[in-house]
Amino acid sequence: MALIWMLTVLSFGAVLAHDVLVQEWNIDQSLPRTSWKGPRNGKNPGLMARITTHGLNYATRKAIEDLSSSLTGMAIPGQSGKSGDVEYSVSNMVIKEFNKPSSEIVLRPKAGLEWTANGMGMSASGDWRYKYKKGWFKVSDHGSFDIKISGVNFHLGINIGMDNTGRPNIRSDSCNDQIGGVSVKFHGGASWIYNLFKGKIADMIKDKMDGQICTVLNKVINDNAERALSDLKVQVDIAHKLLLDYSFIAKPVFTTNFMDTIHKGEVTWKGSNSSTPFSAPPLSPSSDTSRMFYIWISDFVYNSMTYAAHVNGFLKYNMTKKDLPPDQQQALNTTCTDSFCIGNFIAELKRSYPNSSVQLRLSTTSAPFMNISSKAISVQNYGTIVFDIQLPNNSYVYSAITLNADIAINFVIKSAVGKFVRPTLDSE
Ligand SMILES: *[C@@H]1O[C@H](CO)[C@@H](O)[C@H](O)[C@H]1NC(C)=O
Ligand SMILES: *[C@@H]1O[C@H](CO)[C@@H](O)[C@H](O)[C@H]1NC(C)=O
Ligand SMILES: *[C@@H]1O[C@H](CO)[C@@H](O)[C@H](O)[C@H]1NC(C)=O
Ligand SMILES: *[C@@H]1O[C@H](CO)[C@@H](O)[C@H](O)[C@H]1NC(C)=O
Ligand SMILES: *[C@@H]1O[C@H](CO)[C@@H](O)[C@H](O)[C@H]1NC(C)=O
Ligand SMILES: *[C@@H]1O[C@H](CO)[C@@H](O)[C@H](O)[C@H]1NC(C)=O
Repeated sequence: MALIWMLTVLSFGAVLAHDVLVQEWNIDQSLPRTSWKGPRNGKNPGLMARITTHGLNYATRKAIEDLSSSLTGMAIPGQSGKSGDVEYSVSNMVIKEFNKPSSEIVLRPKAGLEWTANGMGMSASGDWRYKYKKGWFKVSDHGSFDIKISGVNFHLGINIGMDNTGRPNIRSDSCNDQIGGVSVKFHGGASWIYNLFKGKIADMIKDKMDGQICTVLNKVINDNAERALSDLKVQVDIAHKLLLDYSFIAKPVFTTNFMDTIHKGEVTWKGSNSSTPFSAPPLSPSSDTSRMFYIWISDFVYNSMTYAAHVNGFLKYNMTKKDLPPDQQQALNTTCTDSFCIGNFIAELKRSYPNSSVQLRLSTTSAPFMNISSKAISVQNYGTIVFDIQLPNNSYVYSAITLNADIAINFVIKSAVGKFVRPTLDSE
């Protein structure tokens, strides 16, 4: 009996439990805590996440690899224009090769991060064409060219903070770039003449490109990324009824090895503005940075969720034969001979209502409560199970039996720091 009840209650928490169990979970209390200095704005977080420099550098490396494969072979839009008496156009430009930079992200304690990339380069080719016309004098020519840009470096400082809606914000606060060299070579037409000037042309291109990398990076960070973050959803829907609010409750914390983000982690009933009557207990992140990414989930996430669900009557369920697969529906019979059925567990049902079937009305009498400590996770469920009986002549006896079901489940945490937590079922 306890099993059915337990499974039902656990299924309500399944979304959460899934998240808890698949994430890296670290609750060793003995390690020194470097980033967490108590409640922020009078509140403890329900959730915290950490990305380490390994994680950031991995993500950047992946991004550069993706950039490199999408740039190679990419067509660049043609250019045409008029300068004095010259009309020119450049077309069919294609990036033939992209040299990935060596890249490193360094966290700046308190302020954000710095991204340095060195040795980026690329080569491209395309077609050129021009016309010169002055009075009766006309010249035109066309051909192709190769251009190579090398030794491109940049250093970008990024500030990451929090806006007043609890969303992250991001701003570039310093940038400088350098272009090592540009070389150009013309082919076709009277290229032997133009190639005499290729050094001057290359210098002109290099001058034009000066500062352009920072212009692009600043635009990407200050406009695109900032806009994306200000539209970021900080609430996620759970089972269409509940909302998990993971907005920031404090600015991210930066140390030289990791960045921690500190989230509310409160679940509330959708459309209701009453808040949870208890607050989150202190969360205990460790200073471990050997992995790329960590997440800490407080029992507050579960407890605020079960509170909202309980108060709004969501933790009620009528269990009938329809909820069971056809070959197991006899489990809800009061009489059975050789198979498993509920009458075998509750003798009273078999005795007073033979050859009948039952419906179970499960409901919580108070919100299920989870307590995570360094050694165990316990879940307390307080509820009732009311039995309605369907007699052999199809008439009903409602509320034939009521059972109080107070169930405690303990998961004992066996694993050490940084390992996947494998809970074991301890009692009842
Ligand atoms: C939210 O709270 C305010 C004041 O506390 C109240 O006026 C309003 O009706 C409430 N809204 C809902 C949806 O409960
Ligand atoms: C559960 O069963 C009871 C009694 O049959 C009924 O009053 C109630 O509406 C049912 N609840 C649901 C959610 O079906
Ligand atoms: C037990 O349940 C099954 C399936 O619901 C039903 O077909 C069968 O008649 C029941 N047996 C008894 C003894 O009531
Ligand atoms: C229950 O059903 C069995 C088999 O159909 C029958 O032999 C028995 O007398 C029934 N018991 C009662 C109390 O109706
Ligand atoms: C949670 O469990 C710990 C250790 O078993 C205990 O000390 C603490 O009082 C419990 N907290 C609550 C809120 O029940
Ligand atoms: C069904 O059976 C029960 C008990 O055997 C009896 O009290 C009740 O009157 C019956 N109902 C109908 C509609 O026959």
